Amino acid sequence: MSRPHLTLGIETSCDETSFAVVAGGRRILANVVLSQTGEHRRYGGVVPELASRRHVTNAVPLLQAALAEAGIGLGDLDLIAVTRGPGLVGALLVGVSLAKALAWALDKPLVGVHHLAGHVYANFLAPPGGDTAPEPRYPAVTLVVSGGHTDLFHLEAGGGLRWLGGTRDDAAGEAFDKVARELGLGYPGGPVIDRLAAQGDPGAFAFPRAMLDDDTLDFSFSGLKTAVLYELERRGWRDPDRRAELEAHLPDLAASFQQAVVDVLVAKTLRAARQVGARQIYLAGGVAANRRLRHDLGVAAAAAGLDLAYPPPVLCTDNGAMIAAAGFAAWQRGRRDGLDLDVDPDPPLDEWF
Ligand code: KG4
Ligand code: ZN
Repeated sequence: MSRPHLTLGIETSCDETSFAVVAGGRRILANVVLSQTGEHRRYGGVVPELASRRHVTNAVPLLQAALAEAGIGLGDLDLIAVTRGPGLVGALLVGVSLAKALAWALDKPLVGVHHLAGHVYANFLAPPGGDTAPEPRYPAVTLVVSGGHTDLFHLEAGGGLRWLGGTRDDAAGEAFDKVARELGLGYPGGPVIDRLAAQGDPGAFAFPRAMLDDDTLDFSFSGLKTAVLYELERRGWRDPDRRAELEAHLPDLAASFQQAVVDVLVAKTLRAARQVGARQIYLAGGVAANRRLRHDLGVAAAAAGLDLAYPPPVLCTDNGAMIAAAGFAAWQRGRRDGLDLDVDPDPPLDEWF
């Protein structure tokens, strides 16, 4: 049997440091992720300089752990794939510098990966510990929803990626995080709101569904955050003395806010699927863990005769395995980067793939 092609995937774009070894672009041999969420929590969000410094201290030990878990040495690697953006510049620099040093020392090809392509390709990995990867179905639409992004992509028949639309202001996850902060629920806000919303009435408060009826595939979530704040203000619930009253309404507020986000995400994703004639819808990114989103999108997709798939939770959040998968696919399509590869906080997707 021929030896499988081994890709090292490196992800340091935000507050996760991750190294993965992926065989044949699909099978995960190791996917070591160190999240700094706990450290950033007390600041209410990611502190860029702190993130960069943690990547610097943790990178080499985590690389060693990933190689040990995969049972291979550095010399066994065939390809180095690294996130070059979008992300925090200082954080990206750590991964890209290390990737270039490895590619040079090992004399192996280097591919700088678009982070969002990584999220899209997370759908084509075998689940951790598994051998069988789902076969990609084209044409498809992928909704990438995370703390930093809300974007729709067309996955074309040949495997190419085309950007269809995205948020004009806050990302969906950012809206969850900001609203949660205003409600005194801590960071990150998504999981807490998801939990609270399960006990609330999504129709209790009428929050706006921005850009629902316009023709674009763009989103806007900052007005929704403002609408929640305005409601709190209007009812006097920002007064610390009325915290008990606010707490009694938290499930309804969470459910109503969440439903407003989900309604727009579902409607635009279905519209995108119709536009490109998709057979399949994929979901990716941290907000893909949201139960209401999974449920409502699943129901809407089924009604339109489409299938919905999403990666397991560990592959929804930032990780090296998805970067290896996207890097391998790009390499197969002929992508090669030189040792002068630069980071890019907002790289164009169309040129990349
Ligand atoms: O993909 P991710 O780990 O990091 C980024 O690249 O941003 O996504 C993190 C985001 C955070 O905004 C978090 O609040 C959100 O995903 N999130 C959720 C849920 N779990 C995580 N949002 C809604 N519902 C959830 N269950
Ligand atoms: Zn991400």
